[in-house]
Amino acid sequence: MRERVVPARRLSGSIRLPGDKSISHRYAMLAALADGVSRISNYSTGADCQSTLSCLRALGAGIERRNGDVEILGLGARGLAAPATELDAGNSGSTIRFLSGILAAQPFHSRIGGDESLSRRPMDRVMQPLARMGARIGARDGRFPPLEIDGGPLGPIDYTPPMASAQVKTCVLLAGLFGEGVTTVREAVRTRDHTEIALREFGAEVESGAGMVSVRGPARLKARELAVPGDLSAAAFFLVAASLVPGSELRIENVGLNPTRATLIDLLMSMGVRIQLLNVRQTHGELAGDLLVSGGHVRGGLIEKGATAAVIDEIPVLAVLGAASEEGIEVRDAAELRVKETDRIATVAENLGRMGVAVETTPDGMRIPGRQRFRGATLDSFGDHRIAMAFSVAALAAGGECFIEGAEAAVVSFPGFFDVLRQVAEPA
Ligand code: S3P
Repeated sequence: MRERVVPARRLSGSIRLPGDKSISHRYAMLAALADGVSRISNYSTGADCQSTLSCLRALGAGIERRNGDVEILGLGARGLAAPATELDAGNSGSTIRFLSGILAAQPFHSRIGGDESLSRRPMDRVMQPLARMGARIGARDGRFPPLEIDGGPLGPIDYTPPMASAQVKTCVLLAGLFGEGVTTVREAVRTRDHTEIALREFGAEVESGAGMVSVRGPARLKARELAVPGDLSAAAFFLVAASLVPGSELRIENVGLNPTRATLIDLLMSMGVRIQLLNVRQTHGELAGDLLVSGGHVRGGLIEKGATAAVIDEIPVLAVLGAASEEGIEVRDAAELRVKETDRIATVAENLGRMGVAVETTPDGMRIPGRQRFRGATLDSFGDHRIAMAFSVAALAAGGECFIEGAEAAVVSFPGFFDVLRQVAEPA
């Protein structure tokens, strides 16, 4: 699908976003392993989180939708059933990596794969720690989906992932729920801590300290009623859109502000973006609040070290903002971008190039000079939801109309993205 996006005069209004994708996956999986019925409100409408629900359904969990809420009849720690066919994680790295931690501990064989993009993403990062716990997992060429998992009893481990990855941490902790003893994950660079928070909510014994988190198995989880805050990574597109178009003022309601994700807000503010946080509150261990953003002068920025991991999903749209900023933007320590839904260093550079924007890429980042003008162009999502949305935002600030090929990719995390964009953006 090809979407036309025209330059905007200003953005205004008040919007709500889909529930956080990261938190939704975690709540659904833990609810399926809990005893009793969990109710999750504002569960992400994104296709990735539907992939998680359909995999859980195929493993025997009862799942119903009621007035936008998801109700999950948990099977208890030992109740999952062998799936009749291959589990389909679709486009979702979180689904396949988190579920492999659970499947590795089950007394049955399973096979899990996904779409073309997922089939190119490395799974050895979860296969290695799981093998150390005693799991038997095969993969295409030793590291790509589909995974063949011969589940069985697992032992606990003390593991330090070689890359900053909340998906790897989560996979190991979920497997640790089934092992006899304490499983520990250590991180040199802090990653999002939704798993730690959610495990505590569902009643697991979790300990966390500087650079480490551990869980005690075997765990018994209790069903919960939980509300998912709006997705900050989805909010990022609108925060940048409003900052790119002078005179804009936009309110984004009920957004997740977990400190391990909110580096994005600090970074935008340090670049001169005006953001107010309102009604900040805590729900089920997660911070949430409303954001009021207004457009204006944006300085440049440097994203490196720990900050890179904290804003890894937002880098495509931050690159767009950087090109329009006063001093430009530099991204370092971001080799992980090369193994996302697309190689996001390459796909960002390709689309910026089509808009006439200069960019210099490096093996683990990019340098984009500031004060550049965006030319109207035909852009491509390359099948990547965040690329589709980041370049729709760039199009709002372009000199002429743009077309986004493969715009339907946005449904992976944000169905309705283009409707919300049209609702708030007044054509120039
Ligand atoms: C996620 C972790 C990140 C992120 C992904 C969601 C999570 O992946 O890019 O969108 O929910 O744990 P990595 O762990 O591969 O960095």
